[in-house]
Amino acid sequence: MSVIEASEFRKTIKRYIDKKISEKDLNELLEVARHAPSSMGLEPTRLIVIRNKELKEVLAKEVFSETNYNLVNSADSLLIFTSLKINEIIKEKYLIERWSKLIIDKDKFKKRMNFFNKYVDQIKNTEGDYFCFFQTYISASFLMLAAADKKIGSSFLGGFKSNIDSVLNDMKIIDSNKQRVSICMALGYFDSNDAESFRKSYRISKNEFVTII
Ligand SMILES: Cc1cc2nc3c(=O)[nH]c(=O)nc-3n(C[C@H](O)[C@H](O)[C@H](O)COP(=O)(O)O)c2cc1C
Repeated sequence: MSVIEASEFRKTIKRYIDKKISEKDLNELLEVARHAPSSMGLEPTRLIVIRNKELKEVLAKEVFSETNYNLVNSADSLLIFTSLKINEIIKEKYLIERWSKLIIDKDKFKKRMNFFNKYVDQIKNTEGDYFCFFQTYISASFLMLAAADKKIGSSFLGGFKSNIDSVLNDMKIIDSNKQRVSICMALGYFDSNDAESFRKSYRISKNEFVTII
């Protein structure tokens, strides 16, 4: 399947079937997500994959709607995309770890550090965590398209209760001082005869969507 075909094939799946994703396929999808671009190569995204049935059932109770509850329970995996908080990213140790392989030249490294510190000064009190948060969507989107290519279904799940972070923190799945949940996703196989999974996509027109100047 080409990327264009995968983008047309992908739909938000509303019903999953009881079929396991193989370790190999799952690993390939996770690799695609890991290879997504990130601002200045800082890779703030951390992904948690819940495959344990009992744990999925517990977390399903943290969603808003019955649809989402059923999605979490029936999908093979619940993916929780989290992002590190800005205060973790700006630590010198973190920056050195990320950049030392990318930037060998010492002067260039210093320049990058100065540039980043100036940039962070501007954003850290207002949109700092958001700088990390929005980047998780890039990994998530990469993964969704790769899943479509394998005819594995996915559903973004924005409809989680706002206490999801503290629930995961209490379970020691995340450290909410250092990271926060951005978006969740159900992932699994779906019934290819289920009309709902092959419904027509409706989008705003090209003219409304794009302005080419
Ligand atoms: C950020 C975000 C959050 C979403 N949250 C949910 C959700 O909680 N439950 C759900 O069933 N669909 C959710 N969706 C799926 C959208 O409803 C869906 O993408 C949209 O209706 C277009 O349909 P399509 O994905 O099949 O093309 C979400 C999508 C996005 C991008």
